[in-house]
Amino acid sequence: MRPGLIGIFDSGVGGLTVADRVRQELPGAPFLYFGDTAHVPYGNRSAEEVRHLVSAIARHLVASGAQVLVMACNTSSALALDLVRAWSPVPVIGIIEAASRAAVQATRNGVVGVIANPLTAGSGAYEEACARASSEAGERAGGVRVLPVGCPRLVPLVEAGEVRSPSARAALLEYLGPLRDEGIDTLVLGCTHYPFLVPLITEILGSGVRIIDPAVYVVAELVKSGWFPPNTEEALPLYQVSGEPLDFDRMASRLLGHLVTGTTRVDLGAGACVSS
Ligand code: DGL
Repeated sequence: MRPGLIGIFDSGVGGLTVADRVRQELPGAPFLYFGDTAHVPYGNRSAEEVRHLVSAIARHLVASGAQVLVMACNTSSALALDLVRAWSPVPVIGIIEAASRAAVQATRNGVVGVIANPLTAGSGAYEEACARASSEAGERAGGVRVLPVGCPRLVPLVEAGEVRSPSARAALLEYLGPLRDEGIDTLVLGCTHYPFLVPLITEILGSGVRIIDPAVYVVAELVKSGWFPPNTEEALPLYQVSGEPLDFDRMASRLLGHLVTGTTRVDLGAGACVSS
């Protein structure tokens, strides 16, 4: 067993935006990343299917020795955080609460946009978390207007490596246009795939809109959870997927700009209960 092993997971390559931040800010911290590439995108599935898939991944990571779990996935954090926390013997970190606190602190005009997949956008999770954060912050109680937009085309585009393509631009223009018209001054990236789209998003919205990437707050949450860096040699990250490992290696390397290799395929047997 690796001391201090962090289990990080997502539906596909999106959670790499979180894992890579952990890698940069805590060099040598051992992590096992699981991408459920056989079942991506989660955003077009039912809540029940996502809970089923997430439970299987979380059990697998705990059984593999993870001493803390990071849900590097907004959909999982919105729909399955309490469920997994109820049985997990190790701390479980979601990514919505901290991002919502940051958004409430960042906004000046009280209008916050959230782009996410349709399941997260429809879950009410960001509205609830921002309401909690604003009442905690006192002076803004009830004062933040949260505008979630479901963006079904973005995850498939990022999974295909299309982060600067004309199709990605067209999709973003469609999703961001109404938020720009509403005058948002803060945009939450409510899906871990979206940080790969930040150059296009900034081109469309301009630099006046503050972008909140939930990945930024994960390291602080790890420390808060009681996790501490193990006193060992630098450990190589491990990557596992439920789909094609070589496809993942190729796309992860391309999106991150450094080599990801040696990914293995693990079949959790969870697919039998969900639609293909
Ligand atoms: N990247 C995940 C999220 O943050 C899941 C996206 C999807 O598979 O739809 O919600």
